[in-house]
Amino acid sequence: MRVACPGSFDPVTLGHLNIFERSAALYDEVVVLVTYNPNKQGMFTASERVALIESVVSHLPNVTVDSWSGLLVDYTTAHDIPALVKGLRSSLDYEYELPMAQMNKRLSGVETNFLMTDPELGYISSTLCKEVAKYGGSLEGLLPEVVVAALLEKMRG
Ligand code: PNS
Repeated sequence: MRVACPGSFDPVTLGHLNIFERSAALYDEVVVLVTYNPNKQGMFTASERVALIESVVSHLPNVTVDSWSGLLVDYTTAHDIPALVKGLRSSLDYEYELPMAQMNKRLSGVETNFLMTDPELGYISSTLCKEVAKYGGSLEGLLPEVVVAALLEKMRG
């Protein structure tokens, strides 16, 4: 089965990477899809996010990366993708994800499968990582090294 892992990935974290790796082990093909979230202000451009993700999934031969600025279900329908995969860190994520999963199902029939985040990664979010970076905190164990470098570069710019 081909699945998509959609998200804003601004930037990709070790928590996201863990979900990509586990999805790659479960499914035939995984498309990591950088998607526009109208409720979030971005730091990285879509092409920068794609490039960072590509650099951290190069060891996963059945994973590709793409971006999309329209309705998620239009992409999944056009690419014959019957299911999405997302990580769930907590009940807060559940409350956030459930209406999106139900809306996407209603709009196109696409299913959403959830993988429970590994406990040691459950507190990691792109938003918190950017905040830690802003105040000079350590990002070790939170982001892939290439992403740490890109984030620090962004902050300097
Ligand atoms: O990582 P995020 O920001 O929580 O991901 C949310 C995202 C990008 C998957 C969601 O905002 C989305 O699907 N955006 C595309 C537009 C769309 O289809 N909106 C309707 C969602 S039900």
